[in-house]
Amino acid sequence: MKALKFKTLLAATAVSTLALGLGAQAAELTIGFSQIGSESGWRAAETSVSKSEAKKRNINFKIADAQQKQENQIKAIRSFIAQGVDAIFLAPVVSTGWDSVLKEAKEAKIPVVLLDRDIDPAGKELYLTAVTSDSVHEGEVAGDWLAKTVAGKPCNVVELQGTVGASVAANRKKGFDTAIAKASNIKVVRSQTGDFTRAKGKEVMESFIKAEGGGKTICAVYAHNDDMMVGAIQAMKEAGLKPGTDVLTVSIDAVPDIFKAIAAGEANATVELTPNMAGPAFDAIIAYKANGTVPPKWIQTDSKLYTSADDPQKIYDSKKGLGY
Ligand code: AHR
Repeated sequence: MKALKFKTLLAATAVSTLALGLGAQAAELTIGFSQIGSESGWRAAETSVSKSEAKKRNINFKIADAQQKQENQIKAIRSFIAQGVDAIFLAPVVSTGWDSVLKEAKEAKIPVVLLDRDIDPAGKELYLTAVTSDSVHEGEVAGDWLAKTVAGKPCNVVELQGTVGASVAANRKKGFDTAIAKASNIKVVRSQTGDFTRAKGKEVMESFIKAEGGGKTICAVYAHNDDMMVGAIQAMKEAGLKPGTDVLTVSIDAVPDIFKAIAAGEANATVELTPNMAGPAFDAIIAYKANGTVPPKWIQTDSKLYTSADDPQKIYDSKKGLGY
């Protein structure tokens, strides 16, 4: 509801901006983006979509790749402050440890927008807005799908968590746990981080399979992103298991490769996370700079569930090449 109202506000702002002949202001904006790295297909798509959204709006867009390190993100933010950019976008690798650097941005009067991950709630006054999904809800959607699919049958789940300390990892765990708490037949028997990468997902899944009698006691895999699931699917196949039939899978992101796996019957479900976080963030900053429109604190993106019922091959064909 709030998001809809904000869209209306942005549309009105765009009209008044043009009417006032302020369109050129957007063209002159320079925005720095401290990106986490390239750990997943989703992340690669977010970087590429951000660039094209910047181009559409004629924004001078500078991306700093932090290679998964918070210290690199802090350095990049300081460098953006020193360059006097008009705004800073931050995809925070972890949720804590941002206070000092964000205070520096605030003192320099540079608005900060969080993209796709959140920071500790205590830091809320240090950023203008956050464009993210409801990552607790994503976990709930995954857990509800599993509960509905196993329909009361006992089900031991192994969980591949995202990066330790990342808001989305904590939230996706919380949401899933909440959903399955309503189903006493479902239990998470093993849970470990796979750091959102395909290689780590495979490695951790191999250890789960070993620890669970060759995988015979595993009913389902829940992964906090599709890349880890793609790695886990590979590990299951190598161990002679049949992911998608013997072992159910549910993960998050909706990247093309998971649709390929669903189409092949080797995966079951994914919850979509749009890679276009930057588009709404650019619009918020343009409006803010043009006439002081303060965006809502949270611009929420959708979390839609996809399964084999959704023509996965068609979705794969439409998504591949979109920066993934
Ligand atoms: O913060 C979003 C998460 O980060 C994506 O779900 C995951 O693929 C990425 O690494």
